[in-house]
Amino acid sequence: MSVADPFGSLPAAVWAAALGALDGEAPAHRTLVLARLERNWPDVLSGLRLAYGDAADAVAQQAALLAVAGAVARAEDLRLLDLRRLVEPDWFQSPRMLGYACYTDRFAGTLRGVAEHVPYLQELGVTYLHLMPLLQPRPAPNDGGYAVADYRQVRGDLGTVEDLAALAGDLRKAGISLTLDLVLNHVAAEHAWAAQARAGDRRYREYFHTFADREQPDAYERSLLEIFPDTAPGSFTWDDALGGWVWTTFNDWQWDLNWHNPDVFCEFVDLICFLANQGVECLRLDAIAFLWKRLGTQCQNQPEVHSLTQALRACARIAAPALVLKAEAIVGPDQLVKYLGVGRYEGRVSDLAYHNSLMVQVWSALASQDARLMTTALRRFPAKPTSTAWATYLRCHDDIGWAIDDADAAAVGWSGEAHRRFLSDWYSGVHPGSGARGLVFQENPVTGDRRISGMAASLAGVEHDVDGLAIGRLLLAHLTVLGFGGIPLLWMGDELALTNDESWDSVREHSDDNRWVHRPVMPWDVAARRHDTGTREHLVWTALLHAVRVRAGLPAMHAAVESELLDAANTAVVGWIRRGREQSLVALHNMSSESQVWPRHAVPLAGCLTDALTGASTGETTGVLLPPYGCVWLVEPAA
Ligand code: GLC
Repeated sequence: MSVADPFGSLPAAVWAAALGALDGEAPAHRTLVLARLERNWPDVLSGLRLAYGDAADAVAQQAALLAVAGAVARAEDLRLLDLRRLVEPDWFQSPRMLGYACYTDRFAGTLRGVAEHVPYLQELGVTYLHLMPLLQPRPAPNDGGYAVADYRQVRGDLGTVEDLAALAGDLRKAGISLTLDLVLNHVAAEHAWAAQARAGDRRYREYFHTFADREQPDAYERSLLEIFPDTAPGSFTWDDALGGWVWTTFNDWQWDLNWHNPDVFCEFVDLICFLANQGVECLRLDAIAFLWKRLGTQCQNQPEVHSLTQALRACARIAAPALVLKAEAIVGPDQLVKYLGVGRYEGRVSDLAYHNSLMVQVWSALASQDARLMTTALRRFPAKPTSTAWATYLRCHDDIGWAIDDADAAAVGWSGEAHRRFLSDWYSGVHPGSGARGLVFQENPVTGDRRISGMAASLAGVEHDVDGLAIGRLLLAHLTVLGFGGIPLLWMGDELALTNDESWDSVREHSDDNRWVHRPVMPWDVAARRHDTGTREHLVWTALLHAVRVRAGLPAMHAAVESELLDAANTAVVGWIRRGREQSLVALHNMSSESQVWPRHAVPLAGCLTDALTGASTGETTGVLLPPYGCVWLVEPAA
């Protein structure tokens, strides 16, 4: 078929090749894909320009055509999903969204097992499920699956690619979007690309950063940070077969990919299409900050990371517009918003990003019973693009690193270094008065950093409830995350206040990684107690469920609305206002074990307000009373 490009916006060769690839497609689908190609082509090209210079045109053409092929391979139900998402582009920003994250095997044995537990997720109100890495990893140790040996196979004991697609379909029918990891900074040393590189294949050697001697590695290492200083010091590994050093930011069996090579980019466009076409609706871009290396820098957050993400996203929008991207960038506050798009990247990079600072600040405020640092730190965040959302969380599968900014600490008269030390002491339970039972992860003798592992309940002090308020503290922490806006993510077990898995190190390959203390096997007998009044599980589950339901009905919780921090009218309370078009909401959280009063005049909403969580009215009060670890979500009464 030969049709002229009606808008003339595509290079003739791209238009012709796309038409060829779409030959045989139903006219309506062909038109749609061409429209998506026209719309996204400029973003593919300009995204690649920064990274690949003059080669960008050819790479863009190759990548865009891979995306068109991905669209052609897309099944009918997913094509419908694409249309639905295009007419409702803010679907993932809805206040109804609730995320849940777990390991397939630990939650339910296999992918088919997960399908059997969908009713549990629905009961909780889950609309988004992140299954931790499940593509074929290298044999253990494999960093919990973050060392992928084959992106097109599912780990054998969990099921098959067909099971994955079937589960994605089952979840979708239940209103749950499946999220998987896209590990794009590195592959397992056993991946075919690495094996071919070791076998001397020049093409695949170029997929990695390799060095004949220590000269360049030493030069880079002068400015690199240590990620696993305890267990995997250094960022380069000698490989005999390769006859050289290879870049390994994380473990020595996780080989960093060379994104300076456009072939690597194209491989990932193809992989994104493959995963989206199994029904995956969100890809978590693992360790995205590390993609681009530049001598003399920490090799994180380089501008090319954002331009390449723009190009990847634009390709995904051609192939599978239902797909959203989530940045896993555990970086400082000043860098984080860039992952949602700043300036020319606004609305063009990831749709979602983890709000690491919020997590850190919640735990920090609870330990210090002081909300000033939290207010200062969160206030420094510029507004995110209105088309994006934070992924908010209290815990995840990783440790908590105390990303407290020295300038923020200084602004409230504290030393950043001393506060980080205090937090490590508090959450590892060595500070007097602390009931927390976290474990120190990857102590760095050079910087003094001590990160912390542990289930949320154990960090809140549930096992050693020194003040009898641990459950209240835990619930407040959850409510703070739920009330901030975005997609709140629950880490498996926290919905039941599960405590640390004391037998975490009995699995040999886990024993040198204490993050497994908060990655338990789901005890379904304990989960059953959520229906038994008087149990801890019932208490926490019902309180969470209530908050999730209330939140779902609050227009002000739409993720496009910003949480604007209020001046700390009471130093133990953190408050914010969300000014939505339909509704404004003021959330106040008492981070302390004492009752607090927030002056009414410091609530920037007029009239008699209702706490959406309890239905209680503030009446004609001079102050809002917050019991220990209490929280209110104040709204104007419905018109
Ligand atoms: C991410 C993952 C973490 C993993 C690392 C390397 O940060 O969350 O678990 O160790 O990437 O893949």
